[in-house]
Amino acid sequence: MRQAGRYLPEYRKIRSQTGGFLDLCYTPELAAEVTLQPIRRFGFDAAILFSDILVVPHGLGQAVEFRENEGPVLKPVRSESELSFLSAEGLLDRLAPVYETVRRVKSELPPETALIGFAGAPWTVSTYMVEGGTSRDFSKVKGWALRAPKEFARLIDLLVDATVDHLVAQADAGADAIQIFDTWAGVVPAGLFAQLCLEPVRTIARKFKEKHPDVPIIAFPRGAGLQYTRFIRIREIDGLSIDSAVPPAWAKQELQISVTVQGNLDSIALLEGGTTMRTEATRILEEMSAGPFIFNLGHGVLPATPPEHVAELVEFVRSWRR
Ligand code: CP3
Repeated sequence: MRQAGRYLPEYRKIRSQTGGFLDLCYTPELAAEVTLQPIRRFGFDAAILFSDILVVPHGLGQAVEFRENEGPVLKPVRSESELSFLSAEGLLDRLAPVYETVRRVKSELPPETALIGFAGAPWTVSTYMVEGGTSRDFSKVKGWALRAPKEFARLIDLLVDATVDHLVAQADAGADAIQIFDTWAGVVPAGLFAQLCLEPVRTIARKFKEKHPDVPIIAFPRGAGLQYTRFIRIREIDGLSIDSAVPPAWAKQELQISVTVQGNLDSIALLEGGTTMRTEATRILEEMSAGPFIFNLGHGVLPATPPEHVAELVEFVRSWRR
């Protein structure tokens, strides 16, 4: 994830020549180009589509902006009446440039390189929609979910349907696998975890597989801790991406017995590079490489990361033997 981020000079160049971040997401020619840049440079096994989880609220009709050094800014939705202004009708038309990007990337990728499409999970997307951007304490969205669970469920349900449509359209256009990012799964009160994280992702996975039974689904409930084990019981989930706080030995015993595990080098180890990075990567490879496993970071590449560290990591993982 975050392969095409600000750590690559060739990305920053295109970004500086394009209007806003969303304009880049909606210009297939350029979005395809920045999707391919890291593949040309590093030869990863898979590319991740260049897009964002916030194109879904945008496609539903919410005002979304990305401001320089401020991150995303949305016109907040905090009540049932504000919710009624959003509609899934027209979503696929508005997001048509994203699917065109998928088609372009597929036609240019080497056949052995997989293309991963993605969406945010309903809970994580709802946090941005309700808070109006990135949050410290999630007081508005958690307050709403705790105070009026039935009303809040309408927002989650709307996002479940929109997310299914969005993921199916990416697979129709040629995505080889899809990933569902629940970046803020770790802040959900335990009593609401099933309702806000587990069940919405289960429903999305089930409905997606009705249309694309052979396209693998990777779930990423970041920070879910002990709740990670609940995802292996969702039959439609093929892979679980683990954050850097999950001990590999635990993941091997509790998760890898049922699903492919993806993860979980700490982004700071990649930023540091050298022996620090190789030591951390080795700890993960020693535990996980005997079972079904995708080597990955525990979260995105940080903007200050030297690209040479990424090249060194790819080389190290590819040549590693137990
Ligand atoms: O390799 C890639 O870049 C793949 C495409 C991708 C982006 N966002 C592009 C992006 C993916 C998979 C995402 C997912 C995403 N977006 C998540 C879930 C994964 C995660 O990182 O936790 C979330 C929570 C978002 C929402 C989002 N997008 C935020 C909060 C921000 C601003 C803060 C930040 O980290 O930059 C973005 C902007 C964004 N999305 C950038 C990129 C490359 C940086 C924007 C820029 O170039 O100015």
